[in-house]
Amino acid sequence: MLVFAVETSCDETSICIMESNKKIHSHMIYSQEIHKKHGGVVPELASRAHLEILQKLYLDCFKKSKISINDIDVFSATCGPGLIGGLLVGSIFTKSLAIGSKKPFLPINHLEAHITSTSYNNEIKYPHLIMLLTGGHTQIYLMQNKNNIKLLGETIDDAVGEAFDKVGKLLNLGYPGGPEIEKRAAYGNKNTYQLPIPLASSKNLDFSFSGIKTFVNILTKKNSLTKKFVNDLSASFQKNIEDILSIKLQNALDSFKNKPINIKNVSIVGGVANNNYIKKSLTKITKKNNIEIFFPINEMISDNAAMIAWNCICKYDESLLDLNFKANPRLAI
Ligand code: KG4
Ligand code: ZN
Repeated sequence: MLVFAVETSCDETSICIMESNKKIHSHMIYSQEIHKKHGGVVPELASRAHLEILQKLYLDCFKKSKISINDIDVFSATCGPGLIGGLLVGSIFTKSLAIGSKKPFLPINHLEAHITSTSYNNEIKYPHLIMLLTGGHTQIYLMQNKNNIKLLGETIDDAVGEAFDKVGKLLNLGYPGGPEIEKRAAYGNKNTYQLPIPLASSKNLDFSFSGIKTFVNILTKKNSLTKKFVNDLSASFQKNIEDILSIKLQNALDSFKNKPINIKNVSIVGGVANNNYIKKSLTKITKKNNIEIFFPINEMISDNAAMIAWNCICKYDESLLDLNFKANPRLAI
């Protein structure tokens, strides 16, 4: 089966052609530059940029792969959650190709695609625990089997990637903040500032990040943004996030101790899984608990169409084909 997939839920425009044997015939990701000067994603600009870029990416993808559109068996696109303008552009573009080629369309949930991204390069054993760490979501899921995904906890305010982005903005590091904070943190002292750990003592699996951003905001008002200050605060902030994620991962594993659920492996997915410092810490926690940890391949960590194609392949079923499926910014799993 040859799948054509499109991702446009935020500020990455991406197309992938993947075969059901996992072969990626072509995969292109265009990160929209236009948002950098605004310090965050501007939805209207994002949808316009998707519209402009999709057609070029589409031509490039087919040219590179030497595949003809007539060879595609299924067309799939992210239909939510995300920014409605981008979702509409991507889904309508892909549906039109499906109609034109008289082939089916399979709608994809963006979060589900992140969640199944580690099954591309790993043998998942169930029950499986997933930490989803993106710019819009921070959630912990339990997957009892391929079709049973249960939400165990999530952020009650900002998402973890959003916290990186907002702190990055306060420190004048541009957008997105995550990669730049990781770079600057390497030169800073992580013990300089003691940041709050919200909901630390509660055993539940919810997160809160907005207070940390406020705390950083107060620090930036009291200090000038010297190189040393930015590096030290980046390192302290990154360590603080690492502490929170480690506590919550351990809480999640502890919550199964007296239950007949024996977690076999953990997946860390979404853009924040790019962070090597966080990766190392979470790996340590799973080692201590004798559990395997999985991360997606590099090109499936940040938003991308390969994970959309892979999710389409994983869940493909004729009953799910739906040309009339409406893009939904709040689409739930
Ligand atoms: O999964 P993703 O690409 O898009 C969403 O679905 O939101 O995640 C984007 C988020 C951004 O907030 C970005 O700052 C964060 O992932 N991110 C990082 C790093 N690289 C990307 N956060 C921390 N460290 C990184 N190296
Ligand atoms: Zn995402």
